[in-house]
Amino acid sequence: MPVIDLSEHAEQFNADPYPVYAKLRAAGPAHLVRTPAGGDVWLIVGHEEARSALGDPRLSKDWRAIAEEGYVELPVSANMLETDPPQHTRLRKLVAREFTPRRIEALRPRVQEITDQLVTTMLAAPDRTADLVDSLAFPLPMTVICELLGVPDLDQEAFRVLSNEAVAPTVNDNTAVREIGKYLVGLIEDKRCTRPADDLLSALIRARHDDGDQLSQDELIGMAFLLLVAGHETTVNLISNGVRVLLGHPDQLAALRADFTLIDAAIEELLRYEGPVGTATYRFAREPVLVGDALIPAGAPVLVALASAGRDPDRYPDPDRFDIRRPPQGHLAFGHGIHFCLGAPLARLEGATALRTLLERTPDLQLAAEPAQLEWLPGMLIRGVRHLPVRW
Ligand code: HEM
Repeated sequence: MPVIDLSEHAEQFNADPYPVYAKLRAAGPAHLVRTPAGGDVWLIVGHEEARSALGDPRLSKDWRAIAEEGYVELPVSANMLETDPPQHTRLRKLVAREFTPRRIEALRPRVQEITDQLVTTMLAAPDRTADLVDSLAFPLPMTVICELLGVPDLDQEAFRVLSNEAVAPTVNDNTAVREIGKYLVGLIEDKRCTRPADDLLSALIRARHDDGDQLSQDELIGMAFLLLVAGHETTVNLISNGVRVLLGHPDQLAALRADFTLIDAAIEELLRYEGPVGTATYRFAREPVLVGDALIPAGAPVLVALASAGRDPDRYPDPDRFDIRRPPQGHLAFGHGIHFCLGAPLARLEGATALRTLLERTPDLQLAAEPAQLEWLPGMLIRGVRHLPVRW
């Protein structure tokens, strides 16, 4: 099958991938493409096929199975998103109960308090302008996940630079990921040495399974990496995409302002229409897998395009229309199957709290940049802008 080259118009694709996805979907549910970063990968673009692929055990998350001899494993890779059962089951079980909707609901007052403080600081700007990413979208989820893990004095800005580079690389090497690994070793050592505290990282350091099994040092680093990175890189863009899309759809914004009970529905529609995760993480075919009439060969890398699935007209009537009153139908923005997002309840809580609080306190919020001037994050994984200037 010929390779479809998405790297030719990488910038255009980053700014608006939906027309490209629509063309690909019309031609079939799976295609061999060259990504904007340059690698060849099987891209699944149809909603139904995307859902099946996310739950298909023939598509492995364990890249070690196909790695070339002599590969070097980074410590941060020992995490649940890069493993299959039974390792995946074991790692996920250790933290799953911390992220149940009930546990997360208990964080609501604290999430509201942090949001109120951030919005108050932002609104104190004498020129009545701010970068929404710097003032709210980034520090809210970052502060929450740091408090949950028990690393309140983490140097958020230093971590942010490395983490941004890890999920939306501007240079194709693993330097940022390695640096984060080193950073986390220090953090974990610190935590081990300080008095045992009542937080998630301390609990993980102490964690033992009923069968006496314990997290290895690399698994601990992998877990901290995944929670810290997944815990903010995505939610940042749920908040900033949310503000950007709402400001671009004044009728929908007015409907929401008139009735804030629509906030949860608005968050779900935002996740479908402009979710922060463009493609799920890499999967690898353990054996030949037929998707539509495309035969993905054994060993081939596969990406599931969640952004495309959300706009599939076979699933959502008039998919390019943003409508916060759309009847709930589910979406794949948090993935599907055993790797379904662990942090979904937290992300929903943070997204709804941030958007509602911001809109309530700025009745005249506006974009302070031309949409065409916004800088999009590179790569297919994360969908969002680097900065979002607003005024009120
Ligand atoms: C709007 C925000 C978020 C979105 C759209 C999102 C999306 C996703 C998606 C699509 C996956 C599956 C990836 C795949 O199958 O390849 C995933 C997995 C995961 N997410 Fe999220 N996420 C968000 C927020 C969070 C937060 C706040 C946390 C943590 C506090 C988190 C933690 C995780 C973890 C640990 C996994 C791996 C689960 C596993 O492998 O079993 N996410 N997320």
